[in-house]
Amino acid sequence: MTIRIRDAVEGDVEGIARVHVQGWRESYKDFLRPEALSGLSVEERMRMWQGAFAQPDPQAKLLVAETASGEIVGFARGGPVRGENGGLLGTEAEIFAIYLLDRVKRRGIGRTLMQGVLDHLDQHGFRSVGLWVLKDNLPARRFYEALGGQPGPEQSFDLRGQMVVEVAYRFELKSQR
Ligand SMILES: CC(C)(COP(=O)(O)OP(=O)(O)OC[C@H]1O[C@@H](n2cnc3c(N)ncnc32)[C@H](O)[C@@H]1OP(=O)(O)O)[C@@H](O)C(=O)NCCC(=O)NCCS
Repeated sequence: MTIRIRDAVEGDVEGIARVHVQGWRESYKDFLRPEALSGLSVEERMRMWQGAFAQPDPQAKLLVAETASGEIVGFARGGPVRGENGGLLGTEAEIFAIYLLDRVKRRGIGRTLMQGVLDHLDQHGFRSVGLWVLKDNLPARRFYEALGGQPGPEQSFDLRGQMVVEVAYRFELKSQR
């Protein structure tokens, strides 16, 4: 299967929202309760992703992975860190989301998406990038570690009635500006 990585366009919103919901259901079913997953809605995610296009930020990057037939099977988004000084993350930039469908995992697509976003952030002068990952999400943690991420602080929050713990990962970018 040939997969192309490219910048997202507004017409991708539905495909991104579908991968977002299906990605959660496929990847989180072993450690999130069914109630946390059943309430997910493609329409609600579409509204969220439309917001990203309504207020475009040249410092942010949203990449999609698509098949030869034009089906979106993955995406990644990063940009300036949210919150004052990045809150607990303490980095200048942040990876907000990276999701692939099960059937395209472990072919280097995640690495290519992540590297594309990190390169963009590097070119825009960011020196450090952080992200939050569920502590129980061991495949994703191994992925971030394989790409050079260093684990950091933890935080817990209530996810639709289930207390979950997240771990921060930090990446130093190569440019020293
Ligand atoms: C995490 C994710 C983006 C990784 O993407 P991917 O395309 O499957 O990963 P890659 O093929 O690029 O893997 C790169 C390296 O990461 C490591 N890695 C990736 N998946 C791994 C796994 N399941 N177990 C252990 N190591 C893993 C390996 O070192 C791998 O290199 P290798 O295949 O040569 O051994 C993908 O699995 C995914 O979308 N998961 C579900 C959503 C999710 O959890 N997102 C993170 C939210 S914070």
